[in-house]
Amino acid sequence: MYWWALAMVAHPEVQRRAQDELDTIVGRSRVPTFLDAPNLPYLQAIVKEVLRWRPVLPLALPHTTTEDDWYNGMFVPKGTLVLTNLWHCNHESSFYGDDAKNFRPDRFLDANGDAIPGPAETREDGHGTYGFGRRACVGKHLANESLFIYIATALWASTFERIRDQNGKEAPIDTETFVDTGMVLYAYHHASGLSADLYTTASLSRTAARLRLGFLRYLRYCQLRRSYMRREP
Ligand code: HEM
Repeated sequence: MYWWALAMVAHPEVQRRAQDELDTIVGRSRVPTFLDAPNLPYLQAIVKEVLRWRPVLPLALPHTTTEDDWYNGMFVPKGTLVLTNLWHCNHESSFYGDDAKNFRPDRFLDANGDAIPGPAETREDGHGTYGFGRRACVGKHLANESLFIYIATALWASTFERIRDQNGKEAPIDTETFVDTGMVLYAYHHASGLSADLYTTASLSRTAARLRLGFLRYLRYCQLRRSYMRREP
């Protein structure tokens, strides 16, 4: 979500287009639900693109080989520690084109704005962020669905903007500096015009409410409550 919020303030045109899609499909009288997902291809493309652009586990999880092997002419003895360079896979220009390093959700849409599958090697994900093979992330469906509903609800309710100084000048933004914990890669939000608590920087101009802290959690609560109440007995 940090990387996504950073992408929104760095690319306000992407944010506006997602909000236009939400306004057309969902409208202003209700919050988005999971049932809207098939009709929100641009939003789904944003989820894929933020996972591709900034994989939070860029070297996945370490594995060891269970037997001697050969790879590209190199001998790999049993017990070798292997790390997958997911960052490189996600930024491979032969898959994603010369603009692979840019945040561009459109790469997951066709000329009509309909969703297209990512490269075959990524299965239907469009990126390698969840790893590969039998030990790929088992939580990816939960993660994808959660990101979708959080992002849809946040953009339905609010607009993410850069912090401004006393003179109204926007803070500089930096999408290239990371906080590297050795495993997980965080956005360096202090240098990017976002405060330590991202959610306080979002302008809630799209809602009548003047909620500040915790508004995402509140909207999620409303969302779950409505979905639950709509269920058939
Ligand atoms: C955006 C969110 C997530 C990302 C980017 C992510 C990424 C990953 C990656 C890269 C791996 C290692 C795959 C490999 O070694 O090739 C992994 C493994 C795993 N993930 Fe996730 N994950 C996410 C969310 C979740 C969630 C929500 C759950 C559980 C509810 C989960 C559970 C697991 C488990 C149990 C493994 C180990 C699988 C195994 O070793 O067989 N992950 N994840």
